[in-house]
Amino acid sequence: MRKIVKENYQEMCSDICQEIIMTIKTKPDALICIAGGTTPLGVMEQLVLELKSKQIDYSNVKFISLDEWVGISKETPGSCLETLDTNLFSKLHLKDEQVIFFDGKAKDLNNECLKMNKELAMFGPIDIIILGIGMNGHIGFNEPGVDVNLDAHIVDLDDTTKQVMGKYFKEQIQLEKGISLGFRQIKAARKIIVMANGEHKKTIVNKVLTSTPDVKIPATILKDVDNCTLIIDKQANGE
Ligand code: F6R
Repeated sequence: MRKIVKENYQEMCSDICQEIIMTIKTKPDALICIAGGTTPLGVMEQLVLELKSKQIDYSNVKFISLDEWVGISKETPGSCLETLDTNLFSKLHLKDEQVIFFDGKAKDLNNECLKMNKELAMFGPIDIIILGIGMNGHIGFNEPGVDVNLDAHIVDLDDTTKQVMGKYFKEQIQLEKGISLGFRQIKAARKIIVMANGEHKKTIVNKVLTSTPDVKIPATILKDVDNCTLIIDKQANGE
């Protein structure tokens, strides 16, 4: 894992946006994965502007889901799909077949995992994946203690994740489980970018940087991965 510190959030997002654009230019049918949550919102904003203003052909690109809260889907503001759809997919007017997403409301969640594994076997590996870091170091919903050999799987949310979750939803909502791509699939991506910004991420970023790879802090699992870059702003750097 390489570490890059940028002056501010805008610069981080701009660099990451350029990486995605480069991936699409090199491989017009690229498979792209972007986390939900707050961190990648600036990347999505810049990506929409760049793809449109530079008239880049993204008609064959596919976006694949990283994770979703179990029990909710696109109709719930703050779900992963709603976040991606509002900020990226709908703005790009993507065709249905360009979006492969977990259905957090699926009756058969195991089947949902199998479906995702099949999609990845067919279209993968992911060409570029943009990840955030949870306050407990989680990646996607790969929570502390995760089995790193898993593919898509259902997760019991960690207590920290349950505490933090309130920031995403307008209404009070208590969710217990998530569904997530596994580390095997994340690590297989051709390019991995982990991003973190802001003072509140400084402690966990520091823990990731100073710890040896251990599932107790899932993001550390990516430290051994050559094609992984951690991009942070000055506020998230050092401690
Ligand atoms: C969301 C996801 C999570 C977030 C992480 C950071 O789809 O996969 O792992 O990336 O919890 O969340 P934010 O960006 O809201 O700080």
